[in-house]
Amino acid sequence: MTEAEAQAELARLAEAIARANDAYHRQDAPEISDADYDALKRRNLEIEARFPTLKRADSPSDQVGATLAEGFGKVRHEVRMLSLENAFEDADVTDFVTRIRSYLGHEGPLSFTAEPKIDGLSLSLRYEGGELVQAATRGDGETGENVTENARTIADIPHRLIGAPEVLEVRGEVYMRHADFAALNDRAAEAGEKTFANPRNAAAGSLRQLDATITRSRPLSFFAYAWGALSEPLSETQSGSIERLAALGFRTNPLTRLCLTVEEMLAQYRSIEAQRATLGYDIDGVVYKVNDLALQRRLGFRAATPRWAIAHKFPAELAWTRLESIDIQVGRTGALSPVARLTPVTVGGVVVSNATLHNEDYIAGRDSSGAPIRDGKDIRVGDWVQVYRAGDVIPKVADVDLAQRPEEAAPYSFPETCPECGSPAIREPGDSVRRCTGGLICPAQAIEKLKHFVSRSAFDIEGLGAKQIEMFFADSLLPVRVPADIFTLQDRDSRNLAKLANRDGFGKRSAEKLFAAIDDRRRIAFERFLFALGIRHLGEVAAKDLARHYGSWAALALAIDTAHPAALLHLKADEAETAARVAAAEAGRRAEVAKARMQIMAEASDEARAAWEEMLSIEGVGAVLASSLVTTLAAGGHERQAVDDLVAQLTEITPPEARATQSPVAGLTVVFTGTLEKMTRAEAKARAEALGAKVAGSVSAKTDLLVAGPGAGSKATRASELGVKVIDEDEWLALAGAAG
Ligand code: IVH
Repeated sequence: MTEAEAQAELARLAEAIARANDAYHRQDAPEISDADYDALKRRNLEIEARFPTLKRADSPSDQVGATLAEGFGKVRHEVRMLSLENAFEDADVTDFVTRIRSYLGHEGPLSFTAEPKIDGLSLSLRYEGGELVQAATRGDGETGENVTENARTIADIPHRLIGAPEVLEVRGEVYMRHADFAALNDRAAEAGEKTFANPRNAAAGSLRQLDATITRSRPLSFFAYAWGALSEPLSETQSGSIERLAALGFRTNPLTRLCLTVEEMLAQYRSIEAQRATLGYDIDGVVYKVNDLALQRRLGFRAATPRWAIAHKFPAELAWTRLESIDIQVGRTGALSPVARLTPVTVGGVVVSNATLHNEDYIAGRDSSGAPIRDGKDIRVGDWVQVYRAGDVIPKVADVDLAQRPEEAAPYSFPETCPECGSPAIREPGDSVRRCTGGLICPAQAIEKLKHFVSRSAFDIEGLGAKQIEMFFADSLLPVRVPADIFTLQDRDSRNLAKLANRDGFGKRSAEKLFAAIDDRRRIAFERFLFALGIRHLGEVAAKDLARHYGSWAALALAIDTAHPAALLHLKADEAETAARVAAAEAGRRAEVAKARMQIMAEASDEARAAWEEMLSIEGVGAVLASSLVTTLAAGGHERQAVDDLVAQLTEITPPEARATQSPVAGLTVVFTGTLEKMTRAEAKARAEALGAKVAGSVSAKTDLLVAGPGAGSKATRASELGVKVIDEDEWLALAGAAG
């Protein structure tokens, strides 16, 4: 198939699928069978996979189920619609409460609401002067779809409120009751139409109908459980706000309880779980929320979830099946991950044929400390195994049935060489993972590193995804083995006789598009550049912290090279410490442990130690990350060469932007020292950063402000030596609070 043919075929498919959608969803009169419809979608996907650059902006593969997204207006949420962090076990709930207490430094009573987590889709209803003026789906949390007309057809949603704040956004869940779902599906089946797989899909499909008269014919329900923009507070508590919403005419969940202890929270969880089957609608867990809204405000948000709430999910679903084989996958950092290949089995409505086996200890039936798990039962190829799936997490093999073990099943022997490159695969002390030592020589590591390099949060090169990386990696004419190769593609192609534009899967236009997309990334944000390098332990957040601190690759590279001897000594000290700890514990001489470390570190030059300590002073950068960064990228190594080659291809690595905020502390480097009395360090740091300040761990010439509580010691002295401004906690609160 040529590019031109593919393009024509994609256009034809888009039209046919759109027509089928319209007939099915809007006219309620399907023109083609489900099987034919699926075949059209599949063909479309196949062509898109072969010609990724030809994928249409209105591609049918981006439209899920009944989404006729192009028909709805967009609504930007004044207050973002967030999702929730998940808890799966009782201990996660205890942790949640402990974290909140330590974040707030709060020891007194703390109450939480506990309520069912409704399995539907969230909706935000905006009332102005008591009138329902807009209803919007969650969308990506920032922007949703305007479904006002459809929301008006839902009986649980009032059109007018009496005595409500001037502006009130009510948030809650649209769902379908079991009885309504069954009746709807019966009607559909009778009429020979497509039925819905579950109430959630039915609710989503019904709410997102372009034609509100169809939505009206679908029995939807709504529970209110939260709010967005408000012109005045509803109450001082979560429970009070929900009562207020009920008084205004919203349906709120009758199983909501106020709990004063973790035990009460867990008791309410069990009580709701026991009623789950008889509620008449689907729920998938229990949501706990801090009741005091002043505390909710102090706790605030992480990137996409509030710190003050958590969803405690009901246990995952389980199924038994046969373990057919164990494959070893080699990851970006060389980790050898065992993957179970299973006889396909349905777990909670999803067909599962692969599951993780974690690591060699897990297969052998012990945890990382050597203690038995599954009563010490190991897992063997041929075993009858239990597969477990929770939410979106990767399914795992949880248990094994020894009674069904085939006689010939032998204990699994974990490879000690890399299956991809043959290099020795070793386990460092304390690491549960065996790693290939091949580095960039190992094709699996090199390829995974490249995939990471082009991924969304890294260089994010349009038209260059995992599939294309695999293709270019194996290509003999135009190979891509290290990141720099991506940026020399066009130049090399121009000198080749066989052009990329003439290849299957490409064309003149798509080759040009790819080269343009690559050129676009020759200017890259420093934090993306750093994250893209795929250094072990270096995540997006730490990349940003490092980028903010050093400001440029040149400065970071210098710091790496200067700190290198100290980092090596640090690793040596770690080893010595482990040995000394064993000896000292036996002999009861603990002080020797610390002494051994000090002695070793004293071998480093002052300069090396200062650079090393500066790196460790960055909040969010610990010794594990710092030593990984420094030893991986130190001058003279393969990886450094690869980075230098990459840098030579880039035009600009842009320093991180100061956060756009009007706060008087935005852009300042702040250090906290001494005891804070009104909030914990964690809270102070999170708040300062939310206001655009940079929080550092130690005072230097770059420090703008030292916030000193009682007991401030050497940092305060250093600050006055350097002429850094010192303020107390109240002054800081006045300054930070001024931004609201
Ligand atoms: S509170 C800022 N309460 O679960 C927190 N959410 O996984 C806002 N959900 O997007 C959400 N029942 O669609 C809250 N009782 C409940 C809920 C609930 C269902 C949904 C909601 C949210 C998702 C997060």
